[in-house]
Amino acid sequence: MDYLTLAMAKGRTAKQTISLLEKAGVQFPDFDEKTRKLIFYDQEMLIKLVYVKAIDVPTYVEKGAADIGIVGKDNIAEAQADIYDMMDLNFGKCKFVLAGTSNELHNQGRKLTIATKYPAVTREYFKRRGIPVETIKLNGSVELAPLIGLSDLIVDIVETGTTLKENGLKVMETIDAISTRLIVNKASFATKSASIHSFMNKLEQALEV
Ligand code: PRP
Repeated sequence: MDYLTLAMAKGRTAKQTISLLEKAGVQFPDFDEKTRKLIFYDQEMLIKLVYVKAIDVPTYVEKGAADIGIVGKDNIAEAQADIYDMMDLNFGKCKFVLAGTSNELHNQGRKLTIATKYPAVTREYFKRRGIPVETIKLNGSVELAPLIGLSDLIVDIVETGTTLKENGLKVMETIDAISTRLIVNKASFATKSASIHSFMNKLEQALEV
């Protein structure tokens, strides 16, 4: 039996992903968010779910360990993986922003330092604008960096805006809109075309409900 392997991001969008999959008729009976198990099966629909860190989803899909993936555009942009971004699933909406303690960009004649979980996205953004920056890679609580002198500014995702507000930071620029997407491995798109299209049709119908 040939399973379609789906890499799904752990974290804040996992619940919505599972509920969209259920609407599409795909079910993983033994899945629960807090599980330590990493692989789940829908034996009827022939779908194998691998449950991985969001930033790793594009890598699993690019390398062909997974045929398809469900993950935020933030992680797709950061991973710079060679995959097809096929479908906007319309949830997990947030945005990439540049933020700091004031509204203005002061560089005092030296390179700006930007703390972020997304160094590739940050470098690309400032390269396009012709502004030299130094990125400092953090893995969380990025908002702390400009408050204690680790960086001048941050590039991060904002959903409700609460974290920025509670730490006295202001949005200086919006870089890009983000939502959860369906991504596809390039080779699988050719070799498993029928099952991938059938899966995408089911998702499309579920999104219309
Ligand atoms: C993300 C992001 C912000 C926060 C934004 O962090 O990096 O810190 O959420 O959400 P808000 O606008 O609704 O406040 P996450 O919760 O993933 O945790 P982290 O700080 O450990 O990265």
